[in-house]
Amino acid sequence: MALLLDGKKISQEIKNELKKEIKESKLSPGLAVVLVGENPASVIYTKHKKKACAEVGIKSFSYELPHETTQYELEELIEKLNLDKKIHGILVQLPLPEQINAQKIIASIDPKKDVDGFHPLNVGKLMLGLPGFRSATPLGIIELIKRYNLDLVGQHAVIVGRSNIVGKPLAQLLLQEHATVTICHSKTKNLPEITAQADILVAALGRPQFIKKDMVKKGAVVIDVGMNRLDNGKLVGDVDFDEVKNIVEAITPVPGGVGPMTIAALLMNTVKAAGFK
Ligand code: GUN
Repeated sequence: MALLLDGKKISQEIKNELKKEIKESKLSPGLAVVLVGENPASVIYTKHKKKACAEVGIKSFSYELPHETTQYELEELIEKLNLDKKIHGILVQLPLPEQINAQKIIASIDPKKDVDGFHPLNVGKLMLGLPGFRSATPLGIIELIKRYNLDLVGQHAVIVGRSNIVGKPLAQLLLQEHATVTICHSKTKNLPEITAQADILVAALGRPQFIKKDMVKKGAVVIDVGMNRLDNGKLVGDVDFDEVKNIVEAITPVPGGVGPMTIAALLMNTVKAAGFK
């Protein structure tokens, strides 16, 4: 059985560190959590985020808006939050209802409060390797790998999935850690041949148990970003955990792997934002 990369345990370590840091500093970090509508997954994610804030001493300000909210109304709220000195980070939970242009909303957030790292300025800084906010899931994944002292330098990292939230920013962070990076997606030819070459395989495509044993190299490190609910109610990742666990060196479980690390990274970003003058 492979080493389990325990995101729950590592995220707790990070939360303890942040709690101490906040207590010992004069910081009083505030995070605005904006939820539009009642997407069931989003309701759960924002609840977890607010609970984690309370655990470490970040004050969360909850804004729950109806599904029918207009672009203008949401932009007005963001403008208000941008100016509010008690609020250091602004998180607008995605996806947004279809009448709202999400890119325009993200671009309206003050980049200094963009703790999700989705603003074009922060995305540009990521590309250039300049300091700025990094997207929480990729940041959490790198933190998890580092805290287990797993090698990144010169390793071949294969990412399956090219989203703006995970695949693309993670590729940049892995490059900065001197990995060799391949991004695959739904149109990639010979996908199993490519994933089987990975020293580090990241599954972020959103298809339950898609990565099978024959797609993974013996001794690889497998990071599973997927969160899929099966018809029988079971929560599974994008990797077929039971098939893969016996041939790899290390693997993240679902739940308890990447999910808690995303939240820990959001808290790290919020504390960082509170340090801005
Ligand atoms: N929806 C899915 N993941 C995320 C995330 O990391 N941040 C926000 N704001 N929305 C999401």
